[in-house]
Amino acid sequence: MRPSFFVTTPIFYVNDVPHIGHAYTVIAADVLARYRRMTGHDVLFLTGTDEHGQKIEKAAAARGESAQEMTDRLSARFATMWQTLNISNDQFVRTTEARHRTAVHALFNKLKAAGDIYEDQYKGAYCVPCESFWTELQLDDGNCPDCARPVEEVEESSYFFRMSRFGEALLQHINDHPDFITPKSRRNEVARFIEGGLRDLSVSRTGVKWGIDVPDGPGHVIYVWLDALVNYLTAVGYPDDRYKDRWPAQVHIIGKDILRFHGVYWPSFLLSAGIDLPEKIVSHGWWTIDGEKMSKSRGNVVDPGAVVAHFGADPLRYFLLREVPFGQDGNFSVPQLLSRTNTELANDLGNLLSRVVSMVHRYRDGVVPTPTATTDDETVLITIFDAIPAQVETAMSGCAFDKALAAIWTGVTEANRYVDRCAPWSLAKQGHDERLDTVLYSALEALRLLAIQFYPTMPDCARRMWTQLGLQLDPNQIDLATSLKWGGLPSGATLPGAVALFPRLDPDQIPASLTPSNTKEPTVTTDNAAQQPATTTAPVAPAAAASEATAPEDDFISIHDFAKVRLQVGKVVEAEVIKKSKKLLKLQVDIGTETRQVVAGIARKYSPEEIVGKQVVVVTNLRPAKLMGETSEGMILAAGDSEVTALLTPTEPVETGARIK
Ligand code: MSP
Repeated sequence: MRPSFFVTTPIFYVNDVPHIGHAYTVIAADVLARYRRMTGHDVLFLTGTDEHGQKIEKAAAARGESAQEMTDRLSARFATMWQTLNISNDQFVRTTEARHRTAVHALFNKLKAAGDIYEDQYKGAYCVPCESFWTELQLDDGNCPDCARPVEEVEESSYFFRMSRFGEALLQHINDHPDFITPKSRRNEVARFIEGGLRDLSVSRTGVKWGIDVPDGPGHVIYVWLDALVNYLTAVGYPDDRYKDRWPAQVHIIGKDILRFHGVYWPSFLLSAGIDLPEKIVSHGWWTIDGEKMSKSRGNVVDPGAVVAHFGADPLRYFLLREVPFGQDGNFSVPQLLSRTNTELANDLGNLLSRVVSMVHRYRDGVVPTPTATTDDETVLITIFDAIPAQVETAMSGCAFDKALAAIWTGVTEANRYVDRCAPWSLAKQGHDERLDTVLYSALEALRLLAIQFYPTMPDCARRMWTQLGLQLDPNQIDLATSLKWGGLPSGATLPGAVALFPRLDPDQIPASLTPSNTKEPTVTTDNAAQQPATTTAPVAPAAAASEATAPEDDFISIHDFAKVRLQVGKVVEAEVIKKSKKLLKLQVDIGTETRQVVAGIARKYSPEEIVGKQVVVVTNLRPAKLMGETSEGMILAAGDSEVTALLTPTEPVETGARIK
């Protein structure tokens, strides 16, 4: 029987639309779920929406909507956004569903039967945005100690849960299970909180109407955090005994702000009800904007839909997990996202794929060759690739997504080095056919392994990679234990043509919608709002920009136009004539990071022997084109009108690949 792997995200408040911070939690859980499906686990991946409580009640009233209408609409908005981000959740629970009410009632009755519920009067402070009770002593200058916002004074009849009974048992559990709460700093935080003494918890409200009724407690609704936490049991069928097939959950992924609810309240409820505790609670950090906490209430949130529209889902998923170690805070920067997309995804990974696939077409008619004898070059490559799966497994077990990606990236780097070192273009030229077969095969095989390993983080990219490698893989059938063994790529398949994996994006074309801005929903909504990406407030164009846009056309280009052309110093490492052409030479030009094939109209002026070894100026971001059946991946600059009179070359030797500005 396959081992069960139950992973959850927090359920999201539906008082507003989803933002990047929410997307982060869900993407992390999705990567884990996809990875565990490939390690043979029977995965249940749960997410959903938290729809009751005073915060939602107030937000609906402010919009002039009924709470049910608003939660229906905004819950759909979260579900749609998760589709946009390629989230593979198996279940989506809403706390307004009947099955959830049944589960909450059952758990409440369990706590009651255990003697842990009693009725009393509550008097104290309540923070609506955090849905938290506080004592006067806990307040920070009269404000909520968590979010620093003003609190409300509450005095009402309430049911209490005897949380004070569970401090010792919880500490014991935390000590006995060092991985129960991670990272360690968060575990210590929870332990310190418990050591400070647990107070009984108010678990019902009479001043709030939008919630689940307390069984046999007329006028009371259940405290929204008790209601919400039970979602993890609802999804597995509680109170029906079949919930035990899936419980305990293997991982609850949460943000650091909701640690106390998951690390203290939730396990106390479970201990009282005699239900096993979850295996792990992993708490991640916060994404900030310019160092400021990103939150709906601050209005400085980034809309994941706008990011996906410009960058695609995979670059966003990759960036969020690669940029910051899980557990630490990070600053969300669009330029940094752009840089990782262009440099790592488009250049290092995308170019590797297109170079190798293009060479298989050029030298082997697009057919995957059969490898022959290997050399030290293959040994180095295979050793690196053989080591990656164990490194990824260790990283994934600890939710160290950045480390998993860094381990996979050693493969990208090594595969690029391998191609440069083995120079298949030279092997082709020199007629070393068997060696060329081995090198092309090994490069393709490295790409196959990378595609599989990138699948959990970048599912679309992986699919596009294996399609270009001539593979038809069903991700649900991939078994990492067997598919990551070197040599799995079948020889003889014909590859489709190379297609750019990630288009290089222009820094000048970042849409205004990606400027962190207020994505709060307008009060007036349209019927199909749930289907639309969140709207953002685009900055108004300054007058100068407006007049520039409407100015009559002239012969000038702006400095931005010029900056679009990427010029680099290249060194011609090989050159040959193109038989059917008097004008064209086929060059291999080293541009520092890679060697590009460039077809240049210079044959009347230069012989191949003359040009090899020369430094030239190359346009390196020109869209590849075919000339006389040969792919040209750049252009070299030369003087002359109809005929070339001289190549442009630096007056002093400079580093190959240097940028020209
Ligand atoms: N409804 C509760 C959770 C109940 S779970 C039984 C809640 N909802 S929330 O919508 O406010 O937050 C959901 C998740 O998003 C939390 O894990 C929270 O940490 C995360 N994030 C919200 N803003 C965030 C950032 N700016 N950065 C990273 N994650 C953040 O809390």
